[in-house]
Amino acid sequence: MKAVILISGNGSNLQTIIENADRIDLQISCVISNNKNAFGLKRAKSSKIQTYIIEPELFNSKEAFDKELISIIDRQEVELLILAGYMRILTPLFVSHYFGKILNIHPSLLPKFPGLNTHQRAIDASEKVHGVSIHFVTKELDGGPLIYQDSVIIDNSDTEKTLSMKVLKKEHVIYSKVIHWYTQRRLNLIDDKTATLDGKII
Ligand code: GRF
Repeated sequence: MKAVILISGNGSNLQTIIENADRIDLQISCVISNNKNAFGLKRAKSSKIQTYIIEPELFNSKEAFDKELISIIDRQEVELLILAGYMRILTPLFVSHYFGKILNIHPSLLPKFPGLNTHQRAIDASEKVHGVSIHFVTKELDGGPLIYQDSVIIDNSDTEKTLSMKVLKKEHVIYSKVIHWYTQRRLNLIDDKTATLDGKII
């Protein structure tokens, strides 16, 4: 299955998806970044994957930016959009254009800690358990139906840095697994609150 991957930064998830692509029946059509300095762009280039940079400063609205994004993605004729550390909020226009085709990975056990700085917020809230969620993207930020979660224990000695490393390690395993479910056409988004795996509500 052909997919586009959207990134904004380091791209460690991108890297593991690239390495697993054959095994999970994925063809990465291109990588798109809103940040020209994203290290993930270098990772894509090293693997000979086409890259695009869309610079937000060149657009006078979020809609105009997302329209450009749509025009690039639609030319690729892909069936899946993978958000892998893409740090821009998508407009409703974008999300409805690709209904059921966008996956996101978020570093918390949603619905806990949507948004930014999830690791520090989990530590500050004295949580004992933290983790990662993969979900379909809908109009509600980090609020689309959950597909899969995995957890880590927060130790007393954990800092934002050590906790993020623990969570990233889980991310690198589970994202490819869930993407494979999608490429096998086992996952479907029914409506803004409902997703299915093998026809059963998750
Ligand atoms: C990950 O923690 C992911 O869950 C979040 O952004 C981070 C991206 O990391 N959405 P990387 O760029 O894949 O290394």
